[in-house]
Amino acid sequence: MQKKIREIRIVENAEAVSRTAAEMVVSLALKKRKSKKNFTVALSGGSTPKKMFAILADDAALCNRMPWGSVHFFWGDERHVPPDHTDSNYRMANEAMLSRVPVPPENIHRIRSENPDAGKVAEDYERELRGFFKLEVDQLPPFDCVFLGMGPDGHTASLFPGTKALHERQRLVVSNWVDKFQSYRITMTAPVLNNAGVVIFLVSGEDKAETLREVLEEQKQADLLPSQLIEPTRGKLLWLVDRAAASKLTGE
Ligand code: 6PG
Repeated sequence: MQKKIREIRIVENAEAVSRTAAEMVVSLALKKRKSKKNFTVALSGGSTPKKMFAILADDAALCNRMPWGSVHFFWGDERHVPPDHTDSNYRMANEAMLSRVPVPPENIHRIRSENPDAGKVAEDYERELRGFFKLEVDQLPPFDCVFLGMGPDGHTASLFPGTKALHERQRLVVSNWVDKFQSYRITMTAPVLNNAGVVIFLVSGEDKAETLREVLEEQKQADLLPSQLIEPTRGKLLWLVDRAAASKLTGE
């Protein structure tokens, strides 16, 4: 069996989390381009990635180094709203970064969540992944990098506590009913997220501290703490967290 590699890196604050992540994604993409391959990344929603996107667009040194032409952007999850909606994860990434950098439009693979049928949205995106990565029936997409956030309730992507999607092992993307929002979310499933070359969690803020301790230090109870489902099978897992979020970790 492959050895599991998990790293927890603690940095000063949310800004440092975002900057470290931005620098990391540029160097991963450059490494991939050296071998003349596309770099594929799945983005998440949330406040920390938003800062990271803004840094990638605003910091001229980073923006100029990023090989935008060979980077393909996907989303790990999306809200069931049209792309111009204020809740849209695509809209957030587009406003903060994609519309402001020289990325070819065909490299942007958004979840088409304007379709009122959430199940259909998920099926369409699964088809898009199968087509892009040329997957056989039982293959998983090999993302180079997946960014994830973690909610104070322990959710990640749109894998919320107690929801059906947590148990999905066949599908790549599913619609997931979330009671507390009384709406569907569209989300990649745990097997897809776990098949990435590197999974990077971005976590900041004191309101995440207790949950982070439970996720990292308590026994596995993934139905309550879905972030514990993330255990890459072939790649690395990096928790990039700020001091406030890490304040309750005991190191055990
Ligand atoms: C979303 C997300 C979600 C997010 C976490 C953390 O669509 O909301 O993808 O999983 O990453 O809720 O969000 P924050 O970084 O804003 O706390």
